[in-house]
Amino acid sequence: MMQRTLVLLKPDAVERALVGRILARFEAKGLRLAGLKLIQVTPALAERHYAAHRGKPFYAGLIRFITSGPVVAVCLEGRKAIESVRRITGSTDAAEAAAGSIRGDFSSSNRFNLVHASDSPESAAQELANFFAPGELVDTSRESLRWLYDLSEGDPL
Ligand code: CMP
Repeated sequence: MMQRTLVLLKPDAVERALVGRILARFEAKGLRLAGLKLIQVTPALAERHYAAHRGKPFYAGLIRFITSGPVVAVCLEGRKAIESVRRITGSTDAAEAAAGSIRGDFSSSNRFNLVHASDSPESAAQELANFFAPGELVDTSRESLRWLYDLSEGDPL
């Protein structure tokens, strides 16, 4: 099933100049860019994005970090994109993330963990709406999927 998901390349990814290498991993998997922009996250946007974590002990630090420098907001599209992107990203605590994942290969922090990725279809829809206006997302042409999936039976296989 084709899905869209929100990925944020956090301030550590931008400052450490890892943006290109991280995006390359998602692109290599066949995930398509549907939206991409460099933004400074405001406190209001950070609080909306991390509303589910309000009240947790790490909440204040999380808001401070995500607003501490520019982030790259990305909408990725692909078959089973939400779980696929989560697997490529690796588990939250980068010290424990699997080797081969972005966090496993490039971080050992539980906060400076480089990437945020939506964890369900509901949060993907909400988070994409928080970061992108509908006109900022582009539709992937069927032609561009031609060698990523078998399209001969209708739905991408
Ligand atoms: P992210 O995927 O952006 O979503 C929530 C973030 O909270 C998560 O990445 C972590 O960086 C952070 N987080 C989750 N659990 C903890 C924790 N126990 N201590 C510090 N930060 C945490």
